[in-house]
Amino acid sequence: MARLNLFLSLSVLLWPHAAVLATLFENIHNVPPTEYDFVIIGGGPGGCVVANRLSENKHFKILLLEAGGPNEGILSIDIPFLSSTIPSRYEWNTTTVPQPGANNRSLAFPHAFVLGGSTAHNGMVYNRGPKDDWDRYARLTGDEGWSWDNIQPFIAKNERWTAPADHHDTSGQYDPSIHSTTGITSVSLTGFPLPIDPLGLEASKELGGIFAFNLDYNSGNPLGLSWTQFTIGNGTRSSAAASYLAPKFLQRPNLHVVVNARVSRVLQTSSSSHSPEFLGVEFVHDLDGPFYRVNAKKEVIISTGSINTPQILLNSGIGDSALLSSAGIRPLVHLPSVGQNMSVHPVLSLVWNVNSSAHTFDVIFQNQTLQNILIEEWIKTKRGPLVDSRGQTVYFRFNESTLASFGEGDPSAGVTSPHALILLQPSTLANPPPPTGKFLSLFAIPLTPTSRGSITINSSVPNFFAPPVIDGGIYTTQFDLLAMREAIKTGVLFMSASAWDEYVIGPTAELAAALESDDALNEFIRNTSGYTEHYVGTASMTSINADYGVVNPDLLVKGVKGLRIVDASILPIVIAGQTQAPVYILAERASSLIKKKWGNA
Ligand SMILES: *[C@@H]1O[C@H](CO)[C@@H](O)[C@H](O)[C@H]1NC(C)=O
Ligand SMILES: *[C@@H]1O[C@H](CO)[C@@H](O)[C@H](O)[C@H]1NC(C)=O
Ligand SMILES: *[C@@H]1O[C@H](CO)[C@@H](O)[C@H](O)[C@H]1NC(C)=O
Ligand SMILES: *[C@@H]1O[C@H](CO)[C@@H](O)[C@H](O)[C@H]1NC(C)=O
Ligand SMILES: *[C@@H]1O[C@H](CO)[C@@H](O)[C@H](O)[C@H]1NC(C)=O
Ligand SMILES: *[C@@H]1O[C@H](CO)[C@@H](O)[C@H](O)[C@H]1NC(C)=O
Ligand SMILES: *[C@@H]1O[C@H](CO)[C@@H](O)[C@H](O)[C@H]1NC(C)=O
Ligand SMILES: *[C@@H]1O[C@H](CO)[C@@H](O)[C@H](O)[C@H]1NC(C)=O
Ligand SMILES: *[C@@H]1O[C@H](CO)[C@@H](O)[C@H](O)[C@H]1NC(C)=O
Repeated sequence: MARLNLFLSLSVLLWPHAAVLATLFENIHNVPPTEYDFVIIGGGPGGCVVANRLSENKHFKILLLEAGGPNEGILSIDIPFLSSTIPSRYEWNTTTVPQPGANNRSLAFPHAFVLGGSTAHNGMVYNRGPKDDWDRYARLTGDEGWSWDNIQPFIAKNERWTAPADHHDTSGQYDPSIHSTTGITSVSLTGFPLPIDPLGLEASKELGGIFAFNLDYNSGNPLGLSWTQFTIGNGTRSSAAASYLAPKFLQRPNLHVVVNARVSRVLQTSSSSHSPEFLGVEFVHDLDGPFYRVNAKKEVIISTGSINTPQILLNSGIGDSALLSSAGIRPLVHLPSVGQNMSVHPVLSLVWNVNSSAHTFDVIFQNQTLQNILIEEWIKTKRGPLVDSRGQTVYFRFNESTLASFGEGDPSAGVTSPHALILLQPSTLANPPPPTGKFLSLFAIPLTPTSRGSITINSSVPNFFAPPVIDGGIYTTQFDLLAMREAIKTGVLFMSASAWDEYVIGPTAELAAALESDDALNEFIRNTSGYTEHYVGTASMTSINADYGVVNPDLLVKGVKGLRIVDASILPIVIAGQTQAPVYILAERASSLIKKKWGNA
C-alpha cells in the first residue's frame, strides 16, 4: 500500500545551530547535534518523569519529543477552575466509532496535545488507587515490585504535599503521616472554601454507611467520603511539565526537550530476527514532512499514552501480523495484544437545581466580567475561587446482594477497591453554560468496568498520522450498565440527606425524568454517558511467560530489544480510581529500573 508515499526523506538531521541557551526547542532545526543515550517519545506524566530522572545522571544524554506545543503561560491550563474551558487546540480531538451501548453516538476520547500530556488538562484529582488494585497488578505480572507496599518509595518521590492556596487549617482533612513533602509534583487540598463542603460533611454524618467520613482516601483504602486532593500547588495546576520539567530541570545541559515533534514510528536498528532491536525514532515537524530520524544508543521509551502508544507500535510493524499486513505495514514483531483489552471508565453528570439565594460557582461561568476580575486576582495573588477544581469525593462498594443481582461476580480487586465514585461540583460544567440558574453536579463514575475496548489503525488510510480507530466498547457488558445505574442511584441517595434541604431544590427535569423507571434510566445513561480520560491496557504488562500482553513487568516490549513503554497503556486493568497518580508512580519505578540497568552514575 501507499503508506510510504508520505516518506520524503529519512535522515538524521538535527541541524547545527549556534549558541543555544535553553533546552526547550520549538523547532528541531535549533537543536545542537547530539548523540542521545535515550530518546523518550511523549511529554506526558510518563515521559516527563523519565526525562527528569534519567537526566539526574550527567553521563546520560536525553531527548524528549512531544507532539504538542509548549505548556507555559496558558491561563486555562494553569488556572484550576478553568480546566473545563481549555480550547481544542490543546486536544487530539479523537472520537470513538459509533457505540451501540451509547445509542450509536461517537464519543469524545479526550487526550491532551501539549507538553504535560493529560496532566495539563485533566481535573487534577490525586488518587494513588486502592491497595488491592496494586496487589492485583503484582499478582497478574508475577512482579512483587508492583505491590502496594513496594510502590511506596515511588509515591514519595513523586508527591510534594503543599499547603492549600488559602493556607486554611487542614487538620482533620487528611492524614499527614502518609504524605511526602519531598517529591516533585505539588499536591494540595481545596484552596478556597466551597459552599457545599459543610453540607457534604453533614450528609456523610447523617447517612453513614458507605458515605461515612474517611480521613484520607490515599491510605490504600479509599472507601467513604473524603476531602479531595489535587495536583495543584500555590493555586496553580502542577502538571507533569510544570513540575518535572520546571526551569531548574530544563537547565540541565544533558536534556533536550523538543515540542511540535510528532513521531510516526520506531525503527528497527538490528536485523537479528530472534530479538530485533528498535533504537530508531522517526518524526516530523510538519505533517507534510520531511521525516527526520534520530537514534538512541541505549533505549527508546514510548510514553505517548494509551491511545497513541498502540498506534506508534502498529505503525512500526509491532502488533498483530495479519492486521498489519492488511494495512500495508510490514509485520516485524507479532504481538496480537497491541491495542486490545483497553479498559476505561465511563462518566456522566447528574445535575440538581440549587436555591436561588444560595451560593454556587455558576456565576463565574455566566458572567465574563466577573470571571475576568477573578482571573486578574488569580494572576496577582494565586488566590480566590479559581484555585479550585472539584469538591469532595465518595468512593463506594456495591453490597453483596447488589453484586449478586448483577449476575457476573465481583470484578473488583478486593475489599479496599471501590466499584464506583461520585464527585461533587458546585456548578454545572455544561459548555456553553446556561445563562442563568444555580446548580450542583455529581459526576458518577463506575470504577470496575468489565467491558473491553480496542485501538487500532485505519487500514484504509495510508498515513501514519490518521486518527486511530477507537472502539471504547461502552456498556457491552450488562455489569457496566447496571454499575452505572447503581452509581446514579447512590448519588441520588446521597442527595436525599436532609443536610441538602435548604440548598438543593431538586433534580433538573432531565434527571427527574430519568429517575422515573429503570428503562428511562438506561436511556439516560446511553444518551448522556461519555468517557473519562482513564484509558489503560492497550500495551498491557503481563508476566514474562504469559502468552499475551505487550510488555514484561520491567516494561520492556516482549521479544524486542531497546524499547520500553512507560505510560498508562501498560496497566492491565484500569485502576479503581483516577489514573494520573498511578502513571506518576509507575514512571518513577520505571526510571529506577532503567537506571539500575544502565548505571546510576
Ligand atoms: C484539534 O482541533 C483544533 C481546533 O480545530 C486544532 O487546532 C488542533 O490542532 C487539533 N488537534 C490536532 C492534534 O490535530
Ligand atoms: C445502532 O446501529 C446499528 C447498526 O447500524 C443498528 O442495528 C441499531 O439499531 C442502532 N441502534 C440504535 C439505538 O439506533
Ligand atoms: C485480554 O486479556 C485476557 C485476560 O484478562 C487474556 O486472556 C486475553 O488473552 C487478552 N487478549 C489479548 C488480545 O491480549
Ligand atoms: C457581573 O459581574 C460584575 C462584577 O462583579 C458585576 O458588576 C455585574 O453586575 C455582573 N453582571 C451581572 C449581569 O450580574
Ligand atoms: C505563589 O504565588 C504568588 C503570586 O504569584 C507568589 O508571590 C508566591 O511567591 C508564590 N509562592 C510560592 C511558594 O511559589
Ligand atoms: C444493598 O444495596 C441496595 C442498593 O443500594 C439496598 O437497596 C439494599 O438494602 C442493600 N442491602 C443490604 C443487605 O444492605
Ligand atoms: C478510515 O478512514 C476513512 C478515510 O478517511 C474514513 O472514511 C473512515 O471513516 C475511517 N474508518 C474508521 C473506522 O474510522
Ligand atoms: C432557600 O433558601 C432560603 C434562605 O436560605 C430559605 O429560607 C428557603 O426556605 C430556601 N428555599 C427552599 C425551597 O428550600
Ligand atoms: C435519547 O436520544 C435519542 C436519539 O437522539 C432521542 O431520540 C431520545 O429522545 C433520547 N431520549 C431521552 C430520554 O432523552
